[in-house]
Amino acid sequence: MSYQNSQIADVAEMLKGRIAELDVKSDVLKAVELKALFDAIPSLPADQRAAYGKELNMLRSELQKLAEEQQSQAEALPPIDVTAPFDSNVPADKRPALLPSDQGSKHPLMTELETVLDIFYRMGFTAVESREIDDDYHMFSALNFPEGHPARDDYDTFVTVETDKDGKKFIAPAHTSTMQNRVLQRYKSNLENGSPIAVLIPGRVFRNEDLDARHEHTFYQLEGVYVGKGIHAGHLVATLKTFLQSYYQKELEVRTQPYYFPFTEPSFEFALSCPFCDKKGCNVCSYSGWIELLGCGMIHPNVLREAGIDPEVYTGFAWGCGLDRLVLMKYNIEDIRHFESAKLDFLRQFP
Ligand code: DAH
Repeated sequence: MSYQNSQIADVAEMLKGRIAELDVKSDVLKAVELKALFDAIPSLPADQRAAYGKELNMLRSELQKLAEEQQSQAEALPPIDVTAPFDSNVPADKRPALLPSDQGSKHPLMTELETVLDIFYRMGFTAVESREIDDDYHMFSALNFPEGHPARDDYDTFVTVETDKDGKKFIAPAHTSTMQNRVLQRYKSNLENGSPIAVLIPGRVFRNEDLDARHEHTFYQLEGVYVGKGIHAGHLVATLKTFLQSYYQKELEVRTQPYYFPFTEPSFEFALSCPFCDKKGCNVCSYSGWIELLGCGMIHPNVLREAGIDPEVYTGFAWGCGLDRLVLMKYNIEDIRHFESAKLDFLRQFP
């Protein structure tokens, strides 16, 4: 499109070239140069205003159209052929093209998970990731849920059509406790060497939930398992308190209340004093001053025995804490569903 007015023509040339550099292409319509052209209208001789104004509107429409076109091109992802996993031995330039990593960024939950892991590493823990598909044995039997026990109903989740060798459906785990038996087995040689088992297990979990601002069907948990000689509930409380104070960078009070889990005895619900209002009451803690954060307890002797650890000699504690919940509170995020929503305007708020 060509413009009669030379000032409009110059600005048109410049702004059309600028669109390519903008992340949000429509920002071109906010350019100071365009605004200056509009601002000049009242000072023009009356007989020139109509023609000038018409050209200026044409320019705005042209820029808008170009911005929309270039935005959709920028967002169109090169297709990935999911049917053809590549041979990792072929040279890099012959492999399927992946998006350049500078177009992506770390998800806020993963950034926070790194902070959490750093704290636990400093406390001597090691980390093992949980699985996203597991079996009935690890989900229930290894955790002292007898067959047909009503507590199984508290962990209603998704199952596969395929079955394992015992004819049981595979399970999208409803908690990271599915990993307890595995880490106890894997690290029990620590005990013979006189060191404890200290493992943090982050992982994605799934539940059949009624969704709302506080409940998602998919979220992350941080499971902790600690076993050694003479370990008692005081160690449990001190470990969690130390972690939470370090994560929130604040002195906190903590509170435990009796609860029931088949895999711990005794079991507790663990609450912390609201880090936002210091127990004065605010919308984060529903004006109660306390936040119920996680389930925990002393590992049930049957769970230790199932992993080949003698509960007469060793004791331990475990907990399961929602990562999303921790992060929601840290940043005062109003809706847990933002995390899995893929909304870029939400995600871009995090460095
Ligand atoms: N797995 C429990 C849940 O998701 C939380 C939990 C409670 C984990 C007590 C534990 C524990 O390891 O000891 O509801």
